[in-house]
Amino acid sequence: MKTLVIGTGGREHALALALSRDPGVSEVHAAPGNPGIGVFATLHDVDPMDGTAVAALARSLGADLVVVGPEAPLVAGVADAVREAGIAVFGPSRAAAQLEGSKAFSKEVMAAAGVPTAGSRTCTTPEEVAAALDEFGAPYVVKDDALAAGKGVVVTLDRAEALAHAAGCDRVVVEEFLDGPEVSLFAVCDGSTTRPLQPAQDFKRIFDGGRGPNTGGMGSYSPLPWAPADLAGRVVDTVVQPTLDEMARRGAPFVGCLYVGLALTAAGPRVIEFNCRFGDPDVQPVLALLESPLGSLLLAAAEGRLAEVDAPRFREGASVTVVLASAGYPESSSKGDVITGVGRANGVAHVDVIHAGTALAHGRDGDSLVTAGGRVLAVRAVGYDVADARARAYAAADLVSFPGMQRRTDIAAEPLGVVEGASLKES
Ligand code: AMP
Ligand code: GLY
Repeated sequence: MKTLVIGTGGREHALALALSRDPGVSEVHAAPGNPGIGVFATLHDVDPMDGTAVAALARSLGADLVVVGPEAPLVAGVADAVREAGIAVFGPSRAAAQLEGSKAFSKEVMAAAGVPTAGSRTCTTPEEVAAALDEFGAPYVVKDDALAAGKGVVVTLDRAEALAHAAGCDRVVVEEFLDGPEVSLFAVCDGSTTRPLQPAQDFKRIFDGGRGPNTGGMGSYSPLPWAPADLAGRVVDTVVQPTLDEMARRGAPFVGCLYVGLALTAAGPRVIEFNCRFGDPDVQPVLALLESPLGSLLLAAAEGRLAEVDAPRFREGASVTVVLASAGYPESSSKGDVITGVGRANGVAHVDVIHAGTALAHGRDGDSLVTAGGRVLAVRAVGYDVADARARAYAAADLVSFPGMQRRTDIAAEPLGVVEGASLKES
């Protein structure tokens, strides 16, 4: 099977790597990819937002499967363009990607499908925002309705900060605060059937102990030894299947990864958010442990044949990913800082260094790897258990450096994970 992965980040690197390790996959291509993917796959300089160009590339390669990684091209309809060209694509249509593209739409679908989630109000005026903040009380949760790369959400005890965030957005969703550990569940979907992957946990805030602003994710691990064993099945029954049925009823069947961000509250799992793609870095440890082939799973989803496919299998043990971010992240990012030690870190047993925001700078003495984004690298390790994987990931991460590098020291340190949202109450 020839595969083409669309995107540039750590998620796409981890997906391409897992495809390259699938014996059923003969070729891995990426557009535009990144220097880490370029080590084992063929890169193509095609704009991931340009559906016509992506479909043309897929056709010229004779690709059997296109995997569209990030939300922006999905929301822009890139998967539709590939599907219209008659090529199997893993990733939702523009219409189905609205589950992530609009928080208000996803809330409406959840309500119609009876999915347990936080109470919410969609607001367009300061008066509506103020009323909703008072209705739900502190901590306040204010979400930009539009796509904001994981940075559109403010969770705060400070009413003025909540109001100020809302004032900067056209339309916001104000929500009830959900208290409990956060879990990411990735459900591979074919429009009517789903196969969930093993749950993971993502550390969203920039600083240790769950302090500082939200980021796209500073580290992750899987499995979650503390989570109920039937969690995935329960979430399929109460969240994923009702959502798939509701989307199909609306004529927008969801084909791709439905990323369910959950809070495990005292009252049971509640949806924090839906995304229309795999989470990054949360999916990285999950893919490291996936034993059954990724290519045939995603192809079956793209072709509406998931019911014929066995549940994905995961190896024993655990995996931990530690993100190395550039100076200024998440408010800004620093580009062009020279990175050293990636080769040595990659050489550590059971470690993969995943590229998220890197570039090659051409110099007189050859190419050097430099930073090119907020999250630069993710050091992922597999071990016997979470503690072992964590020790390996940090040992390898210690070998990498660049000016202004930021990383958390507490990824996967607590058995329960840091309850990031709840920890806000003490800060
Ligand atoms: P989102 O972009 O919706 O994932 O929100 C980003 C982060 O904000 C989530 O991962 C949570 O940590 C936090 N968050 C979002 N909604 C809520 C909520 N209703 N209650 C508590 N924390 C939340
Ligand atoms: N790690 C969170 C996300 O991918 O949205």
